Amino acid sequence: MANILVTGGAGYIGSHTCVELFNANHDVVVFDNLSNSSIESLNRVQELTGKSLTFVEGDIRNSEQLDQVFALHKIDAVIHFAGLKAVGESQQLPLIYFDNNIAGSINLVNAMQRAEVFKLVFSSSATVYDEANISPLNEDMPTGMPSNNYGYTKLIVEQLLQKLSIADERWSIALLRYFNPVGAHKSGRIGEDPQGIPNNLMPYVTQVAVGRREKLAIFGHDYDTVDGTGVRDYIHVVDLANAHLCALNNRLQNIGCRAWNIGTGNGSSVLQVKNTFEQVNGVPVAFEFAPRREGDVATSFANNQRAMDELGWTANYTLEDMLKDSWHWQKQNPKGYGDI
Ligand code: NAD
Ligand code: UD1
Repeated sequence: MANILVTGGAGYIGSHTCVELFNANHDVVVFDNLSNSSIESLNRVQELTGKSLTFVEGDIRNSEQLDQVFALHKIDAVIHFAGLKAVGESQQLPLIYFDNNIAGSINLVNAMQRAEVFKLVFSSSATVYDEANISPLNEDMPTGMPSNNYGYTKLIVEQLLQKLSIADERWSIALLRYFNPVGAHKSGRIGEDPQGIPNNLMPYVTQVAVGRREKLAIFGHDYDTVDGTGVRDYIHVVDLANAHLCALNNRLQNIGCRAWNIGTGNGSSVLQVKNTFEQVNGVPVAFEFAPRREGDVATSFANNQRAMDELGWTANYTLEDMLKDSWHWQKQNPKGYGDI
């Protein structure tokens, strides 16, 4: 049992990870500025697990707030989710993204160092891989310049953390490169609750199905893929949450800094996702074909062998599970946490 500081713990992936941390009998301190989340997610984490967490409303860019957390709680390791993630917004407001994601992460590791906490799991992304790599992507393939500023911040933070661990061998840092997180907790009580128009496929599909949006625009149907639409590696958020526990339990000891892909290893096209969603949930999803979206690649999926071998992690949920669970959450919470 350990005491884990979860930055960004009120968000989509963070809240699911808090549930799994409690299920594994860890203690949890959440540090979040609620800029893209609701405290209701944490109320529901506590309701689901019967455990109580410590919540600190604070910003990772604020050193005093961080120092106070480390002074008040004996933290064993940090899982760092806090950051901004809207790709389009990152193009319009790069400095805000550099500040939150890069400066915020530097500020966090500085506070960790002052508190002598050297175990860190960082939320990275498959977007750091060079676009010229052919899927399945493995961790030895080169990284490249991401097509947007959001992805750029992930690459920079990965590189900073790598250099930090070379300079000071007390650090053990797991970089988890997420593929495409979807799905929700089985209960339907917590899930993804994007603000405004969703950027990502799955929340768009569920919002069309629930009647909040008219139709899905499928970005491109002339890619060199099974049916012309983009192929991605969708991963259930509970499997993803468990990858953080596997990293904490099995690897955060003298590893320096190391990356692991967290994906299922299977690619699904946009049309396959839409059609399977309709089949398993019995609801129609109106759609139209639209031009390709700038910055998109045709195909991206993981080779996840390293995570299986080294973290002892496996993905247990199928695409059908992911689509059922996403719909269960959306149907029960048509306006997300805004329903309460
Ligand atoms: P999310 O927006 O739901 O959660 C992020 C949380 O961080 C939110 O609760 C937000 O309020 C908080 N936050 C943001 N800036 C902060 C700051 N300066 N100080 C304190 N808290 C702050 O996003 P998510 O989908 O749960 O993603 C979690 C992490 O995983 C992010 O770092 C994201 O970039 C990364 N990631 C997400 C995806 C994805 O598709 N969801 C894919 C790859 C990587
Ligand atoms: C996107 C981001 C990536 C980020 C990730 C997680 C871009 C170019 N990439 O990845 O940097 O790490 O989200 O936040 O924005 N699609 C549609 N219609 C939609 C939405 C998506 O057809 O309304 C298609 C896309 O073209 C793609 C697939 O669905 O083929 C998945 O898209 P999305 O969920 O946005 O994820 P990524 O593009 O993989």
